Amino acid sequence: MPSRYTVARTQVASVTEKREYRDDYPEKTLYIPGPTEVREDVIEAMCQPMFGHRMDRMTDLYTTIVEDTKEFLGTDNDLMILTASGTEFWEASTLNLVDENILCTTCGSFSERHANVAERLGKNVDRLEYEWGKAVKPEDVREVLDQSDGKYDVVSCVMNESSTGVRNPIEEIGDVVAEYPDTYFVVDAVSALGGDYVDIDAHDIDVIFASTQKAFAMPPGLAVCVVSDDAYDREVSKDSASWYGGFQRAFDYYDRKGQTHSTPAIPIMLAYRKQMKYMLDEGHEGRSKRHEEMAEYTRDWANEHFAMFPEEGYESQTVACIENTQRIDVAATIEQVSEEYDMAFSNGYGSTLGEETFRIGHMGEHDVESIEALTDAIEDVAGL
Ligand SMILES: Cc1ncc(COP(=O)(O)O)c(C=O)c1O
Repeated sequence: MPSRYTVARTQVASVTEKREYRDDYPEKTLYIPGPTEVREDVIEAMCQPMFGHRMDRMTDLYTTIVEDTKEFLGTDNDLMILTASGTEFWEASTLNLVDENILCTTCGSFSERHANVAERLGKNVDRLEYEWGKAVKPEDVREVLDQSDGKYDVVSCVMNESSTGVRNPIEEIGDVVAEYPDTYFVVDAVSALGGDYVDIDAHDIDVIFASTQKAFAMPPGLAVCVVSDDAYDREVSKDSASWYGGFQRAFDYYDRKGQTHSTPAIPIMLAYRKQMKYMLDEGHEGRSKRHEEMAEYTRDWANEHFAMFPEEGYESQTVACIENTQRIDVAATIEQVSEEYDMAFSNGYGSTLGEETFRIGHMGEHDVESIEALTDAIEDVAGL
């Protein structure tokens, strides 16, 4: 009989064994939907002697990266940079803002996961659900909110659905949600922010978050979250709000000490500081323009050889999801491009889209020329 301390494992038989990490992996240029390429001097910036997270030097580092990021994004809202991945803010924003009801717009795997997180936290989740490949429409959000009798604490939306390559019109959706003052708008911009311009304050986005390993082109390990004054004030009773991702805790700590409430990944913050200076030089709009050019190039290439998976007019600026109309062997092509060209791109998401589509991450520090190197390699290997 199992003891009361026996933890039930999942039904899946483990196939995992230790595989010793080596020192001789070939370098691959990353065209996956994150992590993406990181500048060499940004990687080098991490190699510094350690210092303490309560030292003045830490205050210099943290206040620099926070204020630089606000300047880059052009926002007057509060901003935190936490040692976490973007996933943290699905949980934190739900705990901090949702008493009972949340309306989750879903159109792919990541937006669905956001809804699932809210369900696990015991919230009442209504979905405004779209077929994969389709975008969320502001008029549908308005229709639901009009009939909702003000019951939703939050409407959630993913800016860039990385599983389908759809860019949702979060600006227009934000304008709609702003008409309902008791409803807060939470945007998962994990794979878009930094590579796709958004005026956060103009569209009343209460919470928007991203992970550093995507269009910020930094190492993974940090997440950025921008929070409106209203969302800060709204944070539900301190007991049920998130501890780690609590807005009030993070911002009060920043206001008092200019540091994070717990020990951060200092080396990654050093890399962040360096990369954010490059981002400031290029500017939010400049960076977005470069991503637009990469997206346009990739779309033209895809339409010449295959077809785009997303609904026309809603294609992502950072991740192209391409429909495999030629029925190439996606897995074999990925393997061969990796072997022969040392370039990594991605298959479609999950079991449904795995071979039906493939994805190219054109984000971060890439440009049209580097994307062309990949498409040339795919053409060569797949005999296009
Ligand atoms: C749209 C979107 N949301 C959330 C996540 C989860 O981000 P992370 O793995 O950084 O927690 C991802 C990861 O790819 C994503 O693409």
